[in-house]
Amino acid sequence: MALSIRHLLGLEGVPGEDITTILDTAATFREILKRPIPKVPTLRGKTVVNLFYEPSTRTRISFELAEKRLSADSVNFSTSTSSVKKGETLRDTIRNIEAMNIDMVVVRHKASGVPLFLTQCVNAAVINAGDGMHEHPTQALLDMMTIRDHYGSFEHLKVAILGDIAHSRVARSNIYGLKRLGAKVRLCGPQTLMPLHIEQLGVEISHDLEDTLAWADVVNVLRIQLERQNKGLFPSVREYRAEFGLTRARVAKAKKDLLILHPGPMNRGLEIDSDVADSQQAVILDQVTNGVAVRMAVLYLLSGNEGKVED
Ligand code: NCD
Repeated sequence: MALSIRHLLGLEGVPGEDITTILDTAATFREILKRPIPKVPTLRGKTVVNLFYEPSTRTRISFELAEKRLSADSVNFSTSTSSVKKGETLRDTIRNIEAMNIDMVVVRHKASGVPLFLTQCVNAAVINAGDGMHEHPTQALLDMMTIRDHYGSFEHLKVAILGDIAHSRVARSNIYGLKRLGAKVRLCGPQTLMPLHIEQLGVEISHDLEDTLAWADVVNVLRIQLERQNKGLFPSVREYRAEFGLTRARVAKAKKDLLILHPGPMNRGLEIDSDVADSQQAVILDQVTNGVAVRMAVLYLLSGNEGKVED
């Protein structure tokens, strides 16, 4: 039942058995979350710090809720990066973590590599909640849980990841996790939003959305990261939607049971139309529900608690 990893920095290199263990454990926790009192004493006595150096709504709330449901003690350390010099902040933070005897750290930072850096400085188990354009492993795990609920397994499943791949840590973690469990992954979007050499990860690349939708069993629609778009990587929002927006008309021509995911937050009317986002095929709110269960599973499995899920 134990994982082979001590920290969750990304899904790159994580064995398939570990991913499956996390998804199976999350399924158990999801049952607990349906109870009238959705709380277990599993992490009583453990202390978790949530370090969010970047804006976040659902990921932060989801981790906080997961910690509360497991009866962990948690503290939140949010800071606005704009006013603080990064080096100073991190050093201060590390000192705090050491002084407070924290068991686990959940960290989000705009700079790739900060979670790895933390593992070199503190004894606590580190969970990456999104670092720069690198990885966002718990998001990919909750995406995978949602996909597995519908298709049962990943073997030969065709998953398209649509849109702003270049800026997306979600895409990278999805690629590693899905490929590890046997899915076929195709990236679709404008050439300017594809990272260089990404095909080396064993993914297909397409610039034709209609063809991709005819191929795919699942489409994971990424947010156009307008805050990172200062380089004129596509001509206009209108043009992007015309070429790559997930519209009702396009979904109508896709496979009938195409499953639609979006990690949120959505730009409705840009990468995804409102009626598509709210349709039966979209499982966007299931993803959010699964997010709490997945984070409970990761916290539990990395906590070093040998006990059962329920004491
Ligand atoms: C993602 C993130 O922050 O990387 N969102 C999330 O965690 N739910 C994707 C995004 O910001 O578009």
